[in-house]
Amino acid sequence: QVHPVLLCGGSGTRLWPVSRASYPKQFARLVGEESLFQAAARRLSGPGFAPPVAITGEPFRFIVGEQLAEAGVRPGAIIIEPAGRNTAPAVLAAALHVARADPQAVMLVAPSDHLIPDAEAFRAAVARGGAAAREGAIVTFGIRPDRPETGYGYLELGRDADAGARGVLPLSGFVEKPDAARAAEMVASGRYLWNAGIFMFTAERIIAAFEEHAPEIVAPVRAAVEGARADLDFLRLAAEPWGEVPDISIDYAVMEKARDLAVVPYDGAWSDLGGWEAIWRHSSPDAEGVAAEGPVTALDCRDVLLRSEEEGPELVGIGLEGIVAVAMPDAVLVAAKDRAQEVKEAVEALKEKG
Ligand code: GDD
Ligand code: MG
Repeated sequence: QVHPVLLCGGSGTRLWPVSRASYPKQFARLVGEESLFQAAARRLSGPGFAPPVAITGEPFRFIVGEQLAEAGVRPGAIIIEPAGRNTAPAVLAAALHVARADPQAVMLVAPSDHLIPDAEAFRAAVARGGAAAREGAIVTFGIRPDRPETGYGYLELGRDADAGARGVLPLSGFVEKPDAARAAEMVASGRYLWNAGIFMFTAERIIAAFEEHAPEIVAPVRAAVEGARADLDFLRLAAEPWGEVPDISIDYAVMEKARDLAVVPYDGAWSDLGGWEAIWRHSSPDAEGVAAEGPVTALDCRDVLLRSEEEGPELVGIGLEGIVAVAMPDAVLVAAKDRAQEVKEAVEALKEKG
C-alpha cells in the first residue's frame, strides 16, 4: 500500500485574483469541475492507496476537510502547520507521523496544484516508483523539458541511463531552480528531466535523509509532531517548537544533496498551471484562440482568456488580442497574455499598499 501525502499549504500568487492568500489556487476550480486539490486526492485514492494525509496551514483546514468530503475521499489525517515553513518541514512532519504506525511505509508526496489529466497512466508510474522506493531509493518523477523554465528543479540522468528507457532510472544529480543560462544548457544537453515535484520513499528513508542533510530541521519538527494535538481528523502540530523550524523547500534541503536518487520518467500530460497563460492553454481555446469561462462574451477577439465567476460579474471583451482578463467580485486582472506572469510582482505591490 502506498501512503499519499498531499501538500496543500502553499499560496500561489501567479494566478491572482483567483488564487488568494485566503484561498490559494489548489482549492479553486481552475480547469474542469473540481479543484486541483480534489483531483489530486481522487487520483491517489482507491485500490493500493492508504487514506491520504493532507498537510496544510491553519487557515485552510476547513476548506481541506470540506473539499475531501465533497470528493468522497476520507483522509487518514489532516495535519495543520501553525505557520507555513515551506515543503521540507511539511514532508518531514508527515513522514514522522506515518512512521509512528509503520517506518517502512512507502509514502508518495504530491503537490496538490498540478494538472495530471491521465490518472491511469499516472498510477502506472506510481506503481513503478513504489517498487524502487520499497528498496530504499528516493524516487522522483521526471518530465521531458520543452523550454528552459527556471521555476523547476532539474533531474540529471545517470551516465548509463538511456533517456528513452522506461521504468526507473538512476540519477546523478538534482538542480533546483537554475538561472536561465544553466537551464538552457541543461535542456540542450538532453540529459535532464524536469522534476515534477512528486516524490516516493519509505518514511524511514526520508527521515534518515533529513538527519543527514538537514539536521537543523529535525529536532524542532520532531518536537512539534510529538507535541501535536489530535482533534477529529485534524492533527495540530505544536506551535512552540514549530516556531523554531527553518523555512526551506525539500528540494534545497534534501534533494540537491541526497544520493540514491532515482527517477520514473513520466510522459503523460503534466502541468503545474504556473500562470494564466497555462490556464489559457488548458481551457480548450477555440479556433480563434478564445478561452471563455463563466458569464463572459467575446466579440471579435483572438488569442484571449476571459474568465469570470459563475455568480458574476458579466465580462465582455470586444476586439481584443493577446489579452488575459480575469474578473472576481472584488478584483479584476487585465494583462497582456505574454506578460501575465508579472501579476506576481503586482501582488507584492498590493501587499505593500496593505
Ligand atoms: N503544507 C504545506 N506547507 N504545503 C506547502 C507549503 C507549506 O509551507 N509550501 C508549499 N506547499 C505546497 C504547495 O501548495 C504545492 O502544492 C507544493 O507544496 C509545492 O510547492 P511550490 O511552492 O508550488 O513549489 P515550486 O513549484 O516552487 O517547486 C516545486 O515544484 C516544481 C514542479 O511544479 C519543486 O519541487 C520543483 O523542483 C519542481 O520542479
Ligand atoms: Mg508549484
